[in-house]
Parts: sequence; structure tokens; C-alpha cells
Amino acid sequence: MKGYLLAIDQGTTSSRTIVFDAAGTILGQAQKEFAQHYPNDGWVEHDAREIWTDCLALCRKALANAHIDASELAAIGITNQRETTVLWDRASGTPLAPAIVWQDRRTAALCEQLREQGHEALVQERTGLLLDPYFSATKLAWLLDNVDGARERAERGELAFGTIDSWLLWQLTGGRVHATDATNASRTMLFNIHTQRWDDALLALFRIPAALLPDVRDSAADFGQTDAGLFGTPVPVAGIAGDQQAALVGQACFTPGMVKSTYGTGCFMVLNTGEEAVTSHNRLLTTVGYRLGGKTTYALEGSIFVAGAAIQWLRDGLRLISHASETEALARSVGSAKGVYMVPAFTGLGAPWWDPHARGALLGLTRDTGIAEVVTAGLEAVCYQTLDLLEAMVADGAGRPTALRVDGGMVVNNWLAQSLADILGVRVDRPVITETTALGAAYLAGLQVGVFSSLDEIGQHWQCDRDFAPRLNEQDRRERHAGWRDAVAKVCRRV
Ligand code: G3P
Repeated sequence: MKGYLLAIDQGTTSSRTIVFDAAGTILGQAQKEFAQHYPNDGWVEHDAREIWTDCLALCRKALANAHIDASELAAIGITNQRETTVLWDRASGTPLAPAIVWQDRRTAALCEQLREQGHEALVQERTGLLLDPYFSATKLAWLLDNVDGARERAERGELAFGTIDSWLLWQLTGGRVHATDATNASRTMLFNIHTQRWDDALLALFRIPAALLPDVRDSAADFGQTDAGLFGTPVPVAGIAGDQQAALVGQACFTPGMVKSTYGTGCFMVLNTGEEAVTSHNRLLTTVGYRLGGKTTYALEGSIFVAGAAIQWLRDGLRLISHASETEALARSVGSAKGVYMVPAFTGLGAPWWDPHARGALLGLTRDTGIAEVVTAGLEAVCYQTLDLLEAMVADGAGRPTALRVDGGMVVNNWLAQSLADILGVRVDRPVITETTALGAAYLAGLQVGVFSSLDEIGQHWQCDRDFAPRLNEQDRRERHAGWRDAVAKVCRRV
């Protein structure tokens, strides 16, 4: 029976593939980390060909691990690190240059210049985003200006631009389909989230030829069939969403006011705002949550660039731990960071500060400070940053949520989950399946091909593994948050 779904979850540091059955149970999976390239200060690049060959091999591996033949797949869903920019040759399918990763800051000066010229209001009004190097538009402009002949070739229609979803789709369909979904399009800074079209004024502002752009479809849609040679049989690609939006779906946050936070490389808090595209006055992003049947559900998003990456730094940079799982016992041994604050602004600060020039700091050190306090400060930084996002959402008019649904690799750490609840003053709910990103992609694909009949049906699959009630008193919570704000103010011009 064709009841199985294959999700490709292409993340910032690793690619993962998971086979799900119609109940959302994981039958088999495969995962691989891939190379990160840092050729200059603030630059981050990926090899798009490596990403594709890894994903193809991982699809085959997950099927083998699940003991499923591709002919038994109802559909494939793709979810991906967003904003990362790939430019390739339509004839050969070869990238012209390394992919510029969302974390890359090389276009900070261009963004500043455009802001000084007064263009941010237009950008925010049309795209819901802020003028920051995070998004694809200035990265693509950089490629067109810096790769020999790229601009002329783009104007002649010889090249294609895509975020990672488009790139993978192009490869999966043997170059027949150049498309993306509305959630990924909404992160390019070229897409008008109100009209749901590429925006001519923005294309002119960033000097992007329209011939480069993919077709924008619903998040559950017909994205074509895989090339028959890849899996022995063509398989429909039926769902695409950026990873944070896929997690919103995987967490079944389908009602306005529901909010989820995903802790991967970075942390992304996304609040469903329903049919209303809420304009933020607190430097959050307005974005497409998902688009189904031509109907757009909007979201407010707070994006933090460093969450799990701080723990990775403690492990690989400082070598204070040898495995992330050690952080829980270390944090328990001291209870709190005891006035030590880590501001992990390694690649600047994202929401709500948006300072690409900020850099990291460790503050409040005393002779008593040891490894456990520093590690705990790394975990607490994740909680304080989440609180900054929550406060911004509340200031933008969202009610204080009754619960925050969390997921991602870090939340298996019970101390962190409890500390989040304490610092936010909000209950934290962790689902049974924390691979919500892949699950969301599978749900979208399944919705398109009839494995699921509605979002309501999908919502009934959501199951809580454990909830964490806040235990910190209000005064302690406020004092600790004030200490965090002071620490951020030391490295950031915008506090
Ligand atoms: O916007 C960037 C985001 O999509 C990356 O997510 O999970 O790879 O850190 P992640």
C-alpha cells in the first residue's frame, strides 16, 4: 500500500531523512553532518552539490532502514534551512558558486546602506522582514555582482536561483521543476507576502532579474515527480516548507495564538496569527506560516542565530565538554550560572536586536566560576533569548501564551526545558516526537496526496511527552532577566 511518507530535512549543519507511516510513527531514518566553510570573517558557505548527493544517499538509506521500497511511498516532503542562497546553471544543473548560508554577514554594509537610504519601510511593508543580511535578496545580489558573467547570464535566463528546497526539487525532478513554496519565498526579501507574488519594486531595489525566480506554490502542492532513475520508480514531491514553518505544522500549531520554539543551530519562535499578517513594532518578522488551498496563514517569528551552536562551541571551541548531553548534569550540579552571563553573539544578534556587528561575551566571571557555571550560562542564554522573543511578541499584541511547544535536539535536556519554563514564566510542552520539522514536511506531503484529510486530523496526532510548569518566583525572574539585558547591552548598540 502507498501509505508511507519520506521527509527530507535539510538543516544548517546536517541533513536527515525520515520515513513515517500514516500515524506519524518513525519507521526508519538516516542522518549526516556536512562541511561548513568559513572563508572570511562573517562568511558561511555550503557546497550545494554535497548537500544534494548527501540527501539522495540519505533518502535511499532511510528507505533501506525502514525496509520500505520507494514504490510504497505515497509522497516526499522537503523541509530546509531557509534563506540560504543557491545560484545554478539551468543547462547543466551546476551551482555557479558556493551557497551563501543564512548566517553569512557579508552583505551587512549593503543592508546598512539601503537602510540609510530609507528603504527599510518598503521592505518591511511588503515582505514582513527587516533589512538584514540574513535574508536571500542581498546574498543573491552579491553572487550576481561577484561571480564572473553571472549578471549577464541571469538576464539571458540561463541561470536559476533557489533556496535549498528549490535546489533539491530541481535535482529530484531531473531539472524539470523550478519551484518553491510560499514559506520559503517569504524569506527571500523579494516576495510580497500580501499579494503572494514576487514584488517588482523589490526586484528593482535589489537588482534581481525576474528570470531567475522559481514558481511559488502552496506548501502542500504538486511539485512534480522524482526522476525515475533515482529511486527505481517516480515518487511525487507533494510538500515543501521552510524548516521553522514545517515545525509549526509538525507541532500542530494550527490555531491563532499557538506558538512553538525550535532549538537547533539557532532558535526560532513562531506564533500562528491566522489570516492576519501582524506588523511587528518590536523588530520581529511577519512571515508565511503555511499556505494551503491558496489560503495563507501568517505567523510572527523571532529568530535567534545561536542556540545549539553555543553548546557546539563549548564542546569544539573551548572543549569544556565532550558531548552535548553532559550539559544537563553540569547544570544540575550548580543549579544556575550564579551571575555568569554568556551572550552568544558569534554572528551578530538576531531578533529583537538585529545587530550584525555585535560579538559574543562572557560576563560576571569570579574566581569561583568553573566549567559548570560557564556551561550553564550557555544554556541559560538560550532561555533568556527566548524570553526576549516572547516579550516582543506580547508587546506586539499577542496574548501571553498558556504554553510553549518546544522541539529540536536541545530540548531532550530536561534541565533546559525546566529552566525555559522558569525564565519565561510559561508552561513548556515537549511532544513525543521532537523531530517536528521532518514530521511537518511529511504531514504537508500527506495532506496533498490524501494520506491525511485535514489539519484537524493531523492535530489529533500531537502527543505531549512531558510538560514543565514554571517554578521561579516573579521577582527572581525579573532580576535575572535584567542581568541578561545588561549583559546584552555591553555588546550590542541597539539595546
Ligand atoms: O532561518 C534559518 C533556519 O531555517 C535554520 O534552521 O534548524 O538549520 O538551525 P536550523
